[in-house]
This record gives sequence, C-alpha cells and structure tokens, in this order.
Amino acid sequence: MNGFSVSASSPSNIAIVKYWGKHGNQLPNNPSISFTLSRCHTETQIKVNENGGENYSMRFLFEGKESPKFQEKIEKYLVDNQKYFGFLNGLDLVVESRNTFPHSSGIASSAASMSALVLCLLKVEQKVNGSVAPLDMRKASFLSRLASGSAARSVYPVMALWGATPSVAESSDDYAVPLSDVVSPVFKTYHDSILIVSNKEKSVSSRVGHSLMNGHPLAEKRYATARENTERLLQVLKNGDLDAFIDIAESEALQLHEMMATSTPPYKLMEPNTLEIIDLIRRFRRETNIPTCFTLDAGPNVHLLYPEAYDKQVKSFINDSLLVYCHDNQCIDDVVQQ
Ligand code: PMV
Repeated sequence: MNGFSVSASSPSNIAIVKYWGKHGNQLPNNPSISFTLSRCHTETQIKVNENGGENYSMRFLFEGKESPKFQEKIEKYLVDNQKYFGFLNGLDLVVESRNTFPHSSGIASSAASMSALVLCLLKVEQKVNGSVAPLDMRKASFLSRLASGSAARSVYPVMALWGATPSVAESSDDYAVPLSDVVSPVFKTYHDSILIVSNKEKSVSSRVGHSLMNGHPLAEKRYATARENTERLLQVLKNGDLDAFIDIAESEALQLHEMMATSTPPYKLMEPNTLEIIDLIRRFRRETNIPTCFTLDAGPNVHLLYPEAYDKQVKSFINDSLLVYCHDNQCIDDVVQQ
C-alpha cells in the first residue's frame, strides 16, 4: 500500500430539542433533534503513510498550525475507542483541519470537527480494507457520538434525531437517525442567521455543563419535558405547524439556560445583548406575523430561524435592528443542508 490521503467535510448543527445531561459512555439523558447546517462546516484531510511498525502515530494541524489542545483531544478519543480503530496500526497520520466559519466568531463546533474526523477515519479504514462500498452513516454517527454527543447528528442532511423515542422505531441512544424523509418541505428551506453577540470562548465548557446536570434538582423534570418536546416536534415537523415549532424551539432554548442558572454552582452564558435580541425577535414576530424564532446553543449567540420565504424581510430586520447588538456587527447567514 502506497501513501494516500482522504478528505471529508462535515457541518455544524443547531439543536431544537436540546441534549443536556449524559451518562455512561456519551449516552444522552434525553433525545434531541437538530437542523444540519451547511455553511458552517469543518474540512478535514488525513495524509497516511505506512510506518512498517505495529503502532500508529498521529499529528494534528488546525488551520495549518500545531494545536496541542486538539491533538490531545483526538489522541484521547483514539485511545479510549481503540477497539474500533485497530486498522490504524502501522500507519503514520497527519490530520489537517480547517473551519469555513470566521476565525473570530467564537463558534467552535465540536460537532462539525469531530464528525469530519470520523468520516475521514472511516475512509482510511476503507482504503486499508480495499473497500469501495458507500460509507456506513450509522457507524459514522455512532463513532461521532463517542467523540462529541451532538456530532452524532451532523452526519445527516436536513434534520436528525439522536436518542430513543417511542414513535421512531429505529431511534437509538447509540447513534442518530436521519429525519429528512419525514420533514415537511418548509423546514428544508430554513435559514439560521447566527447573531454573534460575543466571539469569546465560553467560560464553562459543554463537558462541565453536562456534568452539572448530575444531581441537579430540576434534572428529571427537564428530561421529561425534553422527551415530550421530542414527540411534539416530530409531529410538528410532519404537519408544518410553525406556531408550535416556535413554541418548542424558544422554550427549549430558555430551558437550557435555566438549567445553567439553577445548577450548583450556577452560571450564565447569556449576555445583556442576547436578551435584547430575543426581545426584538419576539416583537418583530408579533408586529409582522412572520414566523421567525430564536434558539440558543450553550453560549451567548442567538440563532434566528426562519423559512426562506421571509428571507428578504428578516434580512432587513437583522440589518436595521439586530446587528447593532452583535460583536463587530457579525452575523453568519447559514441555511439547512439539503
Ligand atoms: O456535543 P456536546 O457535548 O458539545 O453538547 C452539546 C450540547 C448543546 O449544544 C448545548 C445542545 C445540543 O443538543 O446540541
């Protein structure tokens, strides 16, 4: 086998029903559903050479530079999950990764980066085995989940469900399943304008955030609500009821941040401008009847969601009323991946 290289790109995703709280080996305490984005993605390439030995080596470069933090994270992932990566033995790997979203946006999507890495690793496995079969996306989702829970959902276009829920027979806590076949056409046109309130790295990582759900006084209630919201959202995605979609999206976003506010110790990731933007979005919706809504990730930035049909009006609203609350007037206009 001569040296070869493989590459893959994978997008970020934004959850509507949120995953927050986990157990065991990256298993979710409730199901979650997300939109898969298209413009915010990670591109990864792995250059592979045989080393004649029995072990493998891995060097990681992020945007052309050594990155000890990511290097360590990936090494740990490969060691922890070595039973799935035996095919790497005897290989030297140079992994190079870059993001398409702006450097200074504060968006560090582990969903995009870890799923892109896994897709590349699966391509290496195929080369080693001489297989030309299409990649097994369920396996890609499973291995991505072991790297970063939300990454499980990034391997499918449009929308994905991760976590077992009664109405979807094939749903599982182990991997995500695609929802594109059941989603009403309007959701395939959705935009996500990401209003960058702050570009700073968040003060509390997701890892710590998940762990603070252990022993949280509201945890069981939160998981029960998320399970109900998953079933409700699955209905809404089929019937296209945008008012119900808005209710679920906004209450899920605020509950996520309520869990942070009521944990021990409590913390907050929203900023004053996050709240200003939320108020303005709700007022805009009331005054225009345009079905926009917001969601939040574990951070201060606001994701403004709306169907393509309202793109013009919403873009004017963003430019006229919201950019002033954003860091350096920054907004990333993303759309659902087809
Ligand atoms: O995948 P993690 O461990 O970074 O957790 C992500 C959690 C949220 O982004 C806040 C919610 C979600 O479901 O994506």
